[in-house]
Formats: sequence, structure tokens, C-alpha cells
Amino acid sequence: MRFILVFVVGVGVVVGGVAIVYAIAGRGEAADQPIAFNHAVHLDSAGLKCNTCHTEAATQTYAGIPGKELCLDCHDVDEESDDAGPQKEKLFAFVDADGDIPWQRVALTKPDVYFSHRRHVTGGNLDCETCHPAQATLTAPPPRTQLVMTMDDCIACHEREGASVDCLACHR
Ligand code: HEC
Ligand code: HEC
Ligand code: HEC
Ligand code: HEC
Ligand code: HEC
Repeated sequence: MRFILVFVVGVGVVVGGVAIVYAIAGRGEAADQPIAFNHAVHLDSAGLKCNTCHTEAATQTYAGIPGKELCLDCHDVDEESDDAGPQKEKLFAFVDADGDIPWQRVALTKPDVYFSHRRHVTGGNLDCETCHPAQATLTAPPPRTQLVMTMDDCIACHEREGASVDCLACHR
């Protein structure tokens, strides 16, 4: 009897633990991006700035993910060699097809939280790296939903910078 009880509790703890880890790490959503885009290559070798591609960060709520037109500024199908690599092959297939590259937006905060890039990038004059410190080093997209920062992170900076800590500033 005692053994069964321990066993049942043990299974409960494991299942609960897995559910919590799953909820924190991914909220159960698979997010395989259509191309295994490499940030590190574009920032190191190509020397690009974040806002070359995320053009709306300074002026809009969302930073946005670039469409295929922008990729074509640098990647010309006719000038690439035959063995350009599997990720470029995917890019060229999207270029030939109708519609845009179906990027998924995975870097989000909770749905009831209001966050504006314009307010922080232009209003607060903050660099992207302040809040996305690891992005420039990623060689492939993160596979699952990422919580960019916790409420404690938001509030710590707001207190430092004298920005609002009123619940309703962020929860509208
Ligand atoms: C301003 C120029 C520029 C823009 C814009 C650009 N790239 Fe690149 N990209 C480069 C350079 C430079 C390299 C490294 C040399 C190479 O592999 O051609 C590269 C490499 C790549 C590679 C091969 C590296 C790998 O890891 O497989 C892929 C795939 C790629 N880019 C996809 C994209 C996509 C998708 C877009 C649009 C969202 C894009 N690029 C926009 C300049 C650019
Ligand atoms: C050459 C274009 C390019 C440059 C330069 C670039 N990005 Fe990106 N970024 C993309 C593309 C394409 C995606 C979607 C695929 C992915 O997640 O890797 C993306 C995704 C992201 C995401 C995740 C969006 C989501 O919801 O999944 C963040 C955050 C991000 N970029 C921040 C940055 C920051 C910060 C910099 C500068 C350090 C930067 N990017 C530079 C093209 C670019
Ligand atoms: C003060 C912190 C902060 C700064 C500065 C910041 N971001 Fe973000 N970023 C966030 C948060 C928080 C999210 C999730 C927001 C949401 O759910 O709307 C996010 C989401 C994103 C996303 C995915 C969703 C979208 O908005 O399209 C991209 C791409 C991105 N950021 C790029 C950038 C780039 C590029 C810069 C610099 C020009 C930048 N961020 C500056 C905090 C920041
Ligand atoms: C690194 C510092 C920093 C971080 C991190 C940060 N903020 Fe801010 N935030 C600021 C600054 C500075 C301002 C004031 C900008 C201005 O003067 O326009 C601001 C303003 C705001 C405003 C407007 C407040 C008002 O009075 O209307 C909201 C909403 C907001 N931030 C939400 C968030 C959320 C949500 C997060 C976390 C996901 C966050 N911020 C993370 C620095 C930060
Ligand atoms: C500067 C922005 C900011 C302020 C101010 C703020 N919050 Fe938050 N809050 C967030 C963000 C971002 C999240 C989601 C990330 C997380 O759970 O850590 C969150 C999550 C929460 C959650 C969890 C809800 C959920 O969706 O899981 C509660 C409850 C909450 N906040 C209550 C409050 C209360 C009460 C106040 C005022 C005392 C407050 N918050 C002030 C940014 C803020």
C-alpha cells in the first residue's frame, strides 16, 4: 500500500514537473521556422545592424520580421553557385513561389502585456542588445516560444530609468 502511494505520488511529481518545464520552455508550441536563419553570419560576416532587417522597431509596436524582398537585396539567385547550401535553396524556393516566407513570431511576452518597440528604441533610446543580448550569436532560430523577459526584468529597468511601474501601464 505504502509502495503504491509513493509510486503514485512519484509519477504525479514527474508529470507535474514535465508539464511545468514544458510550459515555461515552450508553452507547447512547436515553431520550426521555414528557413534555419543564421543571425551570427549576418551580424559578424555581413556586418549588418539589427534595424537593417527589423525595419519597424524604431517606429512601430512590433519590430517585424523581414520579407523576401529584403533578402534579395543581397542574395541574387543567378549569382549563387549550384551548391549554395540547403538554407539558401529554401530561400530561392520561396523567392520563386507566390507569397512571402511564412516566418513565425515566437519571441513574445504574455498576451495581456503591452510592449511597444518604438517607445523603447526611439523614446527610451535603448539598444536592441539591452533586451535581446543573445540574438546576435544565434546560428539558428530558437525552436520554441521564448519569453523575452520576465515582469521583474521590466520593472527593474523601469525603476532604474524612472519609467512607469503602474500595473496599468503594462497590463491594459
Ligand atoms: C545586406 C546583405 C544581406 C541581407 C539583406 C541578407 N543576407 Fe543572407 N547573407 C549575407 C552574407 C554576406 C552572407 C554570408 C556569405 C554567404 O553565405 O553568402 C549571408 C548568408 C546567408 C545564408 C547562408 C548561411 C547559412 O547559415 O546557411 C542564408 C541561408 C541567408 N543568408 C539567408 C538570408 C535571408 C533569408 C535573408 C532575408 C531575411 C537574408 N539572408 C538577408 C548577406 C545578406
Ligand atoms: C539579415 C536580416 C536580419 C538581421 C541583420 C537581424 N535579424 Fe533578427 N530576424 C531575422 C529573421 C529572418 C528572423 C526570423 C527567423 C529567426 O527567428 O531566426 C529574425 C528573428 C528575430 C527575433 C525573433 C522574432 C520571433 O518572434 O521569432 C528577434 C528577437 C530578432 N530577430 C532580433 C534581432 C536583433 C536584436 C538583431 C541585431 C543584433 C537582429 N535580429 C538582426 C532577420 C534579421
Ligand atoms: C526594452 C526592451 C527591448 C528593446 C530595447 C528591444 N526589444 Fe525587441 N522585444 C522585446 C520584448 C519584450 C519582445 C516581446 C514583445 C511582444 O510580445 O510584443 C520583443 C520582441 C521582438 C521581436 C519579435 C516580435 C516583433 O516585435 O516583431 C523582434 C523581431 C524584436 N523584438 C527585435 C528587436 C530589435 C531589432 C530591436 C532594436 C532595434 C529591439 N527588438 C529592441 C524587448 C525589447
Ligand atoms: C532596459 C530598460 C527597460 C526595460 C528592460 C523595459 N523598459 Fe519599458 N520603458 C523604459 C523606458 C526608459 C521607458 C520610457 C520611454 C520614454 O520616455 O518614452 C519605458 C516605457 C514603457 C512604457 C510606457 C509607460 C507609460 O508611461 O506609458 C511601457 C508600457 C513599457 N515601458 C512596458 C515595458 C514592458 C512590458 C517591459 C518588459 C517586457 C519593459 N517595458 C521593459 C525602459 C525599459
Ligand atoms: C513594466 C511592465 C509591467 C508592470 C509595471 C507590471 N507588470 Fe505584471 N507583467 C509584466 C510582464 C512582461 C508579464 C509577463 C511575464 C511574466 O510573467 O513574468 C507580467 C505578468 C504578470 C502576472 C502574471 C499573469 C500572467 O499572464 O501570467 C501578473 C498577475 C501581474 N503581472 C500582475 C501585475 C501587477 C499587480 C502589477 C502592479 C503592481 C504589475 N503586474 C505591473 C509586466 C509588467
